[in-house]
Amino acid sequence: MTDRLRVLVVDHTGDLGGAELALVRACEALGDHVTVRVLLFEDGPLRGRLEQAGVRVDVLPISRAVGGMDRRRAGRLSPRHVVTAVRVAAYGVRLTGRLRRLRPDVVHTTSLKADLVTLVPARLTRTPLVWHVHDRIADDYLPPRLVRLVRRAARVPQAVVVNSRATAATLPVETVLAYPGYAPGQASAPRAAAPAGPPVVGIVGRLSPTKGQLELVRATPAILARHPDARVRVVGAPTFGAEEHAELLHSEAVRLGVSDHVEWVGFRADTAAELDEMTVCVHASPVPEPFGQVVVEAMVRGVPVVATRAGGVTEILAPDGEPTGDPLGLLVPPGDVDALAAAVIEVLDDPAAAARRGRAAFASASERFPVARTAATLTRTWRRVAGVPYPGPRP
Ligand code: UDP
Ligand code: GLC
Repeated sequence: MTDRLRVLVVDHTGDLGGAELALVRACEALGDHVTVRVLLFEDGPLRGRLEQAGVRVDVLPISRAVGGMDRRRAGRLSPRHVVTAVRVAAYGVRLTGRLRRLRPDVVHTTSLKADLVTLVPARLTRTPLVWHVHDRIADDYLPPRLVRLVRRAARVPQAVVVNSRATAATLPVETVLAYPGYAPGQASAPRAAAPAGPPVVGIVGRLSPTKGQLELVRATPAILARHPDARVRVVGAPTFGAEEHAELLHSEAVRLGVSDHVEWVGFRADTAAELDEMTVCVHASPVPEPFGQVVVEAMVRGVPVVATRAGGVTEILAPDGEPTGDPLGLLVPPGDVDALAAAVIEVLDDPAAAARRGRAAFASASERFPVARTAATLTRTWRRVAGVPYPGPRP
């Protein structure tokens, strides 16, 4: 018997969401003792990124009615949902067949849809199941019915990995904490000084009501009143059906008369180059973010951060609760546009203090969030549930 642990990762999407990018980075950091293969419910750019990382990917297509089902509608009972349930069951049969054929040592699911759909196939094939939860399972984040369903089902897997303490706090089971890590190429040396030229206030993330671009656009008039040459750069594209929101953002910038100062950059594969241009990076999610990788990504490039005080971001920027000594970033209440503008102005007004915070943030994030740590935690968890606690031949 080989000493390589064979892990089948299951994800419902082929898109490049944050959880999927975290998966790619974790796969790149795994050692020789683990072989990961990924099964997706649909094809998409994720497949290419995984294959580049040397990961074998299979697509087992799911009916659109299930794959595209809105989280807000999941967990409801209506005739349409009975049909969906039948389709899920049919998919479960195919997935069970796939597990029987591949016989992985562990099956690891990385999205809520994959978590739920894989429960029965894992049980039927007696494959140890690990859930990797990237969402806060809470009513302020997901539909209450789905919250109840996921919380009940969370007792079934052999292990539940979470991306933050904030996520762990929403689950009724013991969890394993594995912060998503930054890849070595995402970090730089600490910044000596802010970039020259007019200040750049940046925000990175998919365009969505949950990501706070609207709050930043609304804070822009106050920022410009104090720093008239500032530019606001919005990096990211609408995904998961948020195109309408992108239009709202554009029209809000026009309505407020700031559209000449706001640059819509779109999706960038290389966000590091964007971060390097920023005087300050804003993370303005009005709802508690489960983790918030872009905050870490700004920190490991030494970019000062202004963020909302909620969810995983608080853990990233104030690891022991309230910041003591040099804070790692400025935290403002979620949804508070005036406080957001004031914090951005504070950074732009006092570059020396911002640079000090940036250096403290750089040191803290570099140490706490390297992806090698994530990979080690995942490997330990997989070995434990597979009954092979240490590398070496299995019994
Ligand atoms: N990202 C990117 N290009 C963009 C915007 C975002 O590559 O134009 C990446 C970003 O660097 C981060 C991920 O998308 O790695 C977003 O992850 P995060 O955890 O911050 O948020 P999520 O989208 O998962 O809620
Ligand atoms: C999810 C969460 C985000 C987190 C990412 C990686 O997409 O929305 O907060 O950073 O997963 O765990």
